[in-house]
Amino acid sequence: MSRLVAVLGGDGIGPEVTELAARAMVEAATLHGARVELGQALIGGCAIDQTGSPLPDETLALCRSADAVLLGAVGGPQWPPEAKVRPEQGLLALRQQLGLFANLRPVTIHPQIISSSPLRPELLRGLDLLVVRELTGGIYFGAKRREVDRAEDVCSYTVAEIERVVRVAAGYARARRRKLTSVDKANVLETSRLWREVATRVVQTEFPDVYLEHQLVDSCAMLLVRAPKSFDVIVTENLFGDVLTDEAAVLGGSIGMLPSASLGEGPRGLYEPIHGSAPALAGRGLANPYGAILSAAMLLRHSLALPEAASAVEAAVSAAVEEGVLTEDVAGPGWQPATTREAGSAVLRALRRAASSRSRPGSLLEERG
Ligand code: IPM
Ligand code: MG
Repeated sequence: MSRLVAVLGGDGIGPEVTELAARAMVEAATLHGARVELGQALIGGCAIDQTGSPLPDETLALCRSADAVLLGAVGGPQWPPEAKVRPEQGLLALRQQLGLFANLRPVTIHPQIISSSPLRPELLRGLDLLVVRELTGGIYFGAKRREVDRAEDVCSYTVAEIERVVRVAAGYARARRRKLTSVDKANVLETSRLWREVATRVVQTEFPDVYLEHQLVDSCAMLLVRAPKSFDVIVTENLFGDVLTDEAAVLGGSIGMLPSASLGEGPRGLYEPIHGSAPALAGRGLANPYGAILSAAMLLRHSLALPEAASAVEAAVSAAVEEGVLTEDVAGPGWQPATTREAGSAVLRALRRAASSRSRPGSLLEERG
């Protein structure tokens, strides 16, 4: 049976990195006996330019019919925030239309690139945290109003919206180190007081084996850089999650390394690197494709139920990093930076190498021995 993945390159460096991610995904699926077909469509600024809409009907229809969506990035200086129609509206509408309420942003750092982070290596070595960001509620989607000298954005959450994302996060915590940090601003915001109440009830009644702590978002922002390894899973609302995950990206060496998965009730999901469109790098062949490729690995695992293909892609990215194939954001001083394509090719080579050593019976015995 063939699976369909919608590929939405979007704007800036989006198309460059997504193309390589799609190639690695198809290669890994094929090597593991699965067939993946790709369907391309427009989203964001390029969709506005060509159709007038940041999320054309055909794009939404393709995504609805697909098993998963692989996305690059949206936005850029050509489409300023004050415009009436903006690229970001396309992504937000797609998340909402597909019901993708839980955004998983795992943060780890490969030892080879640890010096790319401005933080001291001992704070980062062995780091493994997961942020689960609520993605279809809160201030992003509340009523908005603009008058000449006044503006308003409403933040609201229902019990059901909080329950479902806390369940997802607690489920991951249970499978990891069983610690869940719920982040809010309960000393000021009513929505946060509800968030805290619901998170406490859900974890106490359904996940008694998970240790739950509450943290205010400002102190969480500080602890993330002071003691990042003290976290296991963080769950938080939409806007706090947006801000904290860009901060957490610094822990991963470069925002170019970090993948994400946006999930709903079923297997369908949307997968995108968290780096954005990086207009200054666009078209220059210098962008880091590893975050996009690792997003494709998450797609293989969550939406296509191909965990071995997913692990193979992750191992191939690690192998490419170990070989020293590093784009300029993670190449240390004195290191010749790789281009986007060189990094993508290194991943494909590592994938094929691993597959051919798997298919040689002798080496299988060696691996087992
Ligand atoms: C992200 C981005 C988006 C967001 C933008 C592009 C709308 O910053 O995925 O973190 O704010 O959610
Ligand atoms: Mg963001």
